[in-house]
Amino acid sequence: MQSAAATREAIAQAAEILRAGGLVAFPTETVYGLGADATNGMAVARIYEAKGRPRFNPLIVHVSNAEEARRYGAFDGQAQMLAARFWPGPLTLVLPLREDSGLSSLVTAGLSSVGLRVPSNEIALTLIRQARVPVAAPSANRSGHVSPTRAQHVAADLGGRVDFILDGGPCEAGLESTIVSLTSGHPVLLRPGAVPREAIEAALGTTLARPQGAMCPESPGQLASHYAPRARLRLNAERAEEGEVLLGFGPEAPEGALNLSPGGDLREAAANLFGYLRKLDETGAERIAVMPIPDHGVGEAINDRLKRAAAPR
Ligand code: TXA
Ligand code: MG
Repeated sequence: MQSAAATREAIAQAAEILRAGGLVAFPTETVYGLGADATNGMAVARIYEAKGRPRFNPLIVHVSNAEEARRYGAFDGQAQMLAARFWPGPLTLVLPLREDSGLSSLVTAGLSSVGLRVPSNEIALTLIRQARVPVAAPSANRSGHVSPTRAQHVAADLGGRVDFILDGGPCEAGLESTIVSLTSGHPVLLRPGAVPREAIEAALGTTLARPQGAMCPESPGQLASHYAPRARLRLNAERAEEGEVLLGFGPEAPEGALNLSPGGDLREAAANLFGYLRKLDETGAERIAVMPIPDHGVGEAINDRLKRAAAPR
C-alpha cells in the first residue's frame, strides 16, 4: 500500500490505478472514500472484501457532474432540481437505475435503483475526471466502524487492503452525505447527513418522508449498530460517571473535556465527531459519555450517528 499527499502526480497515478481495477482511498468533503471503477465487477468485489461489507449493501457511484450522472440514473424534475441546487456537494440521490447504465450489478446490490453523488472536494473531482470511469466508493473503513476523516484513519483501518491512499488532509464536513431517495413518488430521507434536512425540504417545498420497510434496502448505514467505536457510548450525559470519559459539546462542558465545539457550532461538531470518537477510543476508556447535541440542522445527522454508535452490538 502506498500513501501520498494529493499532488497532481499522485492524483494521476491514483486515476491509473482506478482504471486498472485497483482500490484507491481518496478524500471527499464528507469522509474518505474507498474507490473502484463502478463498471468493473472484479474491482467492485474487492471493495466489499476490503471492508468486510455485506454484499446486499449497495455503493454510492461518484461522478464529476450531473450530466454524467444522467447516464446511470433516471432524473425526474425533482431530481434535476436537487442536483442543480446541491451538486457538487454532500447530497446523494437514489434514482431509478437506467437499464443501459453499464454499472456492475454488485454496485447496486442488484437493486433497480442507484445512489449518485457529485462531490465538491477538488481532489475527488480531479481524480474522477482523470479516471474517466464512474467511481463506486463507500466510506474507507471496515464495515461497522467509525468513518475516516483523515488519511491516517484509512491506513489504520484498511492499511494493506488498499492499493493507494491519497492524502488530502482532514475532511471539511466530517459526516457522510445526506441520502434522498426519489424512487417512490414522494422524496424519502434515507440517511441524514452533511446537507441539513431543512435545506432540502426548503428546496423541494415539501417535507421528506421517513424510510418505510419496503422502500429501504437492508443497509448497514441504516442498521441499528454502525459507525461504532470500540468503547460503549452513553448519550445525553450531563457529566462523566466513574469509568467514563466525557465528549463535550458547547460552553457548558467542563474545562479539560474533549469538546466537539466549545462555541456550540454544529458544523464544527460534525467535523470533529469521528476523529474525537477515535481519539477517545485510543485512551482505552471503556465508556464514552456524550453531552446532548441539539437535533436541528446537521445536528440531526450527528445524533443519528451517535445513536447507531451507542446501539447494542
Ligand atoms: O459521504 C458519503 O456518502 C461517503 C463518501 C465516500 O462519498 N460515502 C458513504 O458510503 O458514506 P457508504 O457506503 O458508507 O454509505 C452509503 C449508503 C449505504 O447506507 C447504502 O445502503 C446507501 O448509501 N445506498 C447506496 N445505494 C443505494 C440505493 N440504490 N438505494 C438505497 N440506499 C443506497
Ligand atoms: Mg460507511
